Amino acid sequence: MDTPIYDFVKEYQKKGIVRLHMPGHKGSSFLGCEPMDITEVNGADDLYHPQGIIRQSEENATQLFGARRTFYATGGSSQCIGAMVYTAMLHCKKGQGKPVILAARNAHKAFLHSCALLDLEVQWIYPEEEATLCACPISPQQLDRILKSMEALPFALYITSPDYLGGMADIRGISAVCKKFGVPLLVDNAHGAYLRFLPESLHPLDLGADMCCDSAHKTLPVLTGGAYLHIAKDAIAPFENDGKNALALFGSTSPSYLTLQSLDLCNRIVAEGYGEKIAVCTKKINQLALRLTKLGYSLQHFEPLKLVMEGAKIGITGYALAEFLREKGIEAEFADEDHLVLMFTPETKDIDFEKIEAAFPPVIARSWEARKTVLLVESEQAMSIREAMFAKRRTVWAEQALGQICAAPAVSCPPAIPIAISGERITQEMIALFLLYGIEEIDVVEEA
Ligand SMILES: Cc1ncc(COP(=O)(O)O)c(C=O)c1O
Repeated sequence: MDTPIYDFVKEYQKKGIVRLHMPGHKGSSFLGCEPMDITEVNGADDLYHPQGIIRQSEENATQLFGARRTFYATGGSSQCIGAMVYTAMLHCKKGQGKPVILAARNAHKAFLHSCALLDLEVQWIYPEEEATLCACPISPQQLDRILKSMEALPFALYITSPDYLGGMADIRGISAVCKKFGVPLLVDNAHGAYLRFLPESLHPLDLGADMCCDSAHKTLPVLTGGAYLHIAKDAIAPFENDGKNALALFGSTSPSYLTLQSLDLCNRIVAEGYGEKIAVCTKKINQLALRLTKLGYSLQHFEPLKLVMEGAKIGITGYALAEFLREKGIEAEFADEDHLVLMFTPETKDIDFEKIEAAFPPVIARSWEARKTVLLVESEQAMSIREAMFAKRRTVWAEQALGQICAAPAVSCPPAIPIAISGERITQEMIALFLLYGIEEIDVVEEA
């Protein structure tokens, strides 16, 4: 597969052109990557109006993902989430009042920011079963009931899959219900770009999503910020006509050409046997999971390239497990009280797998009671997300926030999932979760 952006920049660099254009480093090497870092010079195309090399490269990605259209972004899924929600909103029938989007409660804060900027109303879906902050499993039956009960249909359903703990939604089932009601399905697939390249694709586009965003940088060999906004072949509306403008609305006018080259090169990498490499990697992860289970660790392994250790089940916090690994030169993706998340890709070397396995001693049997997880419960939405986000605010200690209205979404990052949504009245359960996630201060609305 050709790599037009990468080739162009390499050629540009080779020619030794005097750079009387941005960026200010002029190609001098400080970090080492500057000679390859250019801007939209003659021939380099324009990310938001592509006619040349970027267009060609995006067409390659479109083909690889089997999409109707795949757009590049250099501002991560955060940028794509805003663009995706905005694009869906443009296609909704205009009724009275604010447009309403139905969303699973474990949404990333970028979704909240988009809703504030676009002045949307969100109807949240809470899980029917017990779930932690990061998860929000929804069954097709539950969705069917919710949609039937709504006076006016939402302009889209927004879900996150995979979630931070590797939970995977029943996208096929959920999509069937969405199609029945004519509601577009938008998936935050930030963690799942690679799912397309499994022996049997589990990518949202192949399971019935209308649009989805992938952080290429999270699971493919792409520089930070590289992401895709995909429009499905059988999307319910011509979203592709608005994708570029929507991405421009949420992005910088100076996209990183390093990241664009990386996305471009990634097309060739995945076209040349990356699927097989992913399959080999998943086998190694499965073996590691088996060995760790034999040592007494409790694991959650739903998403092929993620291992989630359930520290709470063996009486060790996720933080302690992370610290333990850190001392052995291994840095995990994420830890909270209950979990430790390890992310792998084909770039994880065999020697690293050995190091990880050797790091874990057998679990010593202890007598304790597994700690109960604190669950999120629904709270009163006292004002709109936008009103709260733009309101005058003050900062209070988390313990003193009971009954106050949340201004900025209170999150720890990662997982960047708001415990309290802007405009929600803060409950005792939320305060318990703030403290669990180490959030000591909260921005609340200054009430008159
Ligand atoms: C579920 C989820 N969605 C969206 C994002 C934002 O992605 P990005 O970092 O590519 O902007 C993240 C980041 O961690 C995430 O975990």
